[in-house]
Amino acid sequence: MPIDQEMPIDQGIPMEKGMADQECMAAPLWIFGYGSLLWRADFPWAERRPASLRGFARRFWQASTDHRGTPDAPGRVVTLVEEAPACCHGAAYRIEASDAGQVLDQLDHRERGGYDRLSIDLEFEDGRREGLTYRASAGNRNYLGPAPLDEIAAQVRTARGPSGHNLEYVVRLADALRDLGRGDPHVFELERLLQPAD
Ligand code: SIN
Repeated sequence: MPIDQEMPIDQGIPMEKGMADQECMAAPLWIFGYGSLLWRADFPWAERRPASLRGFARRFWQASTDHRGTPDAPGRVVTLVEEAPACCHGAAYRIEASDAGQVLDQLDHRERGGYDRLSIDLEFEDGRREGLTYRASAGNRNYLGPAPLDEIAAQVRTARGPSGHNLEYVVRLADALRDLGRGDPHVFELERLLQPAD
């Protein structure tokens, strides 16, 4: 059935980490990546598909003190912000039931800097499926919130953490979106601001 003819979706149910694994394993587990999970999928997955999340925008509004910055000099990474007309494009990974517990444990650890699991409805080219993603909501200890893009660029330009330079995160994200054939003005404008002046 075409996506537009389906019922409105009830988006964004928070899921407690470590609590819903059995529920996830009853159905195929689809994990939506919109940030580093787009280009660094270092967990066992069976299938990867372009997918979109309606009602959320991707924003560099989360501080990273453990991957792309340090507690003294945090970097900026993306999170999802509820925005009614927005649609965040990314990729979803199907996880075999036998791997689900291990993958969720691994991602809970990787995304421990303020991200929680969120149960979502994902749009694929051929319809909708339930999935989950990691979202850092307002109020978590590393939440920075909005800032002018040139201020975000200045922070990204100088930050570096155990996973590498913050600049690399932005460039890899922009490259991954281009590979998917998808745009995101917030990401591409930030990438442009970070390009060295001639
Ligand atoms: C994601 O990639 O989907 C979550 C945010 C991040 O780790 O960059």
